[in-house]
Amino acid sequence: MSDHALNQISLDTFKTLSAGEKAPYLTEQGRSFHALVAQQFSRPMLDDLCSLANDVRRLAKTRDGSSFLQSRLFDKRAMLYFAQPSTRTFLSFHAACQTVGLDVVNVRDSSTSSEMKGESPEDTIRTFSSYTDLIIMRHPACGFAEEIAWLLSNTSRPVPVINAGSGKDQHPTQALLDVYTLERSFENNGGIDGKKVAFVGDLKRGRTVRSLAWLLTKFDGVKIYFVAPPELQIGEDIIAYLDAAKIPYELTSDFDQVIPEVDAVYMTRLQDEWDSDNESSQLDISKYYFTKDHLNVLKEKAVIMHPLPRRKEIDVAVDRDPRAVYWRQVRNGMWIRAALILRIFGCDQKVRDYYKEHI
Ligand code: NCD
Repeated sequence: MSDHALNQISLDTFKTLSAGEKAPYLTEQGRSFHALVAQQFSRPMLDDLCSLANDVRRLAKTRDGSSFLQSRLFDKRAMLYFAQPSTRTFLSFHAACQTVGLDVVNVRDSSTSSEMKGESPEDTIRTFSSYTDLIIMRHPACGFAEEIAWLLSNTSRPVPVINAGSGKDQHPTQALLDVYTLERSFENNGGIDGKKVAFVGDLKRGRTVRSLAWLLTKFDGVKIYFVAPPELQIGEDIIAYLDAAKIPYELTSDFDQVIPEVDAVYMTRLQDEWDSDNESSQLDISKYYFTKDHLNVLKEKAVIMHPLPRRKEIDVAVDRDPRAVYWRQVRNGMWIRAALILRIFGCDQKVRDYYKEHI
């Protein structure tokens, strides 16, 4: 293990680090061992993952390519531990694991595990890691995936951990699929560099926005608009990151004014599961909904995104517009997650070589 690995630092010290300072501890010999925070992905890593996801996507279309991919990790098992509701993230990770041949076991409800007998979540996950080679986990507590990664790095059989959503804090693999979708959408239009992106809705508690805002700092000339009622505006910590990265941004509550300006509109739902007293039901968020009429003022080559699930933020009539790419995001999640897993296990080069020879 390298000097920066998680067995070189105490848990207490590790917990005091900012997400950016944690990043080097998550990487071994230039590749991610754990995937926990958006801050650990550099621009070359993002470019590399997107191109690998393209190779995987095209290979999976043929029987031979698909069988080659499945033979990469047929001797390994993954554990999907989801202690919070999930549809797309769970299913796309499941499909991604199958794409690269990983066998999958899962726990989606801690009431079915020995946590109900008083076992600590740490011991429960350590048990999972004894039978598997990769832990993919979603948990309501911020920082818990990081703690588990530290714990598992400090056992005789370190197992990588992928964060599939941690509390209100981070959702790094959603941010990866969002970047992949933006890359594909702007493939013939100059890429992500120089684009204007609006985040709309519950930015205070939406972890997808927090992780993606950070990844966008890796692109040149990007400008971000945070569109929300003052009560749901983006956190100070993200603003501080943008300031440090010298990324221009605006905070506004005027959605109508922003729509014609931007190249991507990233819609989000109200994250009211975090309310302490149903307080967000008092807010009128209907002026942050994307309606059919907004299509008339949106740029011709712009895209409308949403991590889903949606409520009423996007009128279903918008789905048919070619600029609506949220259903493509759903599918892209599978390809970029397969690419991430291949990289974690060091199988990426073989896939690239096979792709060059056969496609
Ligand atoms: C998001 C999440 O879980 O943070 N969903 C997802 O993973 N696609 C967004 C949300 O729940 O609003």
